[in-house]
Amino acid sequence: MSNGQTRVAIVGDPVEHSLSPVMQNAAFASAGLDWEMVRVQVPSGSGAEIIGRVRSGEFAGLAITMPLKEEAAAAIDELDPASARLRSVNTAVGLPDGGVRGLSTDGNGFVNSLRVQGVDLVGSKVHVVGAGGAARSIVAALGAIDGCLITISNRTFSAAVEAAGLAESAHAVDGDETVDAVKGADIVVNTTSVGMGSESGVGALPLAIELIGAHQVVADIVYHPLTTGLLAGAAARGAHTVDGLGMLVHQAVLQCEAWTGFSPDPVAMRSAAEAELARRSG
Ligand code: ATR
Repeated sequence: MSNGQTRVAIVGDPVEHSLSPVMQNAAFASAGLDWEMVRVQVPSGSGAEIIGRVRSGEFAGLAITMPLKEEAAAAIDELDPASARLRSVNTAVGLPDGGVRGLSTDGNGFVNSLRVQGVDLVGSKVHVVGAGGAARSIVAALGAIDGCLITISNRTFSAAVEAAGLAESAHAVDGDETVDAVKGADIVVNTTSVGMGSESGVGALPLAIELIGAHQVVADIVYHPLTTGLLAGAAARGAHTVDGLGMLVHQAVLQCEAWTGFSPDPVAMRSAAEAELARRSG
């Protein structure tokens, strides 16, 4: 255990199962920093108060999870463009003058998790399944990429329409249009919780697997199990698959960079997360 001089916290409710501490403490170690991440359970309604603890210097920064992402955004002075559009943050950074900067690293973490696998999003067609918080972050990040065309489908169509409002190049689809959008996409991403918690490679699917072809990239943001039914089915059809730990690690890399100014080792962070997941299921 480190006696970190500088502390950051993962805040939200619940926080006991978050993988952030193992990933960030591995990140700090990989960058040779005497920093430490701790868990602080913070209930709904205390978002402004926890941002005050960054302002006072108690924490150098925060990783922010449910249910505080919107409350924290409202209490922060300086939001990056994506966070301002989303009205939500997952990262707070304390500034030397007592100010606090807010970022959303999920969307760019997703983009980077594809880039490191050689998947170029410039000029690509992406179909997003789902329209919750994670989908909205991803849509906002994809909307900033040149020529990236986005379609969104969701069980509740109105939420897909709302998410599509976050990027000029996005539109919501339903029914037969969804079938065409999935078939025509270069990249398909599941952002719903469908497939979570089932045995590796089996379980409910967020879309009809017959629509997937070998030319496509299929990404899942679910990481428990790492090989979801969707990813197993897509791989069997010859598609290139990207698992959900990629986004989790790469959004954490961006958080660490924002707090410390150092680039941590994503491989060390992923190993730490995998070891923790294995420990929990063992
Ligand atoms: P997150 O922050 O992880 O994105 P969320 O905001 O609760 O979580 O969003 C969950 C997403 O998964 C939503 O798009 C939700 O669809 P609805 O908008 O219709 O609720 C989708 N989802 C959850 N369970 C689902 C299911 N059984 N079938 C299809 N979609 C589901």
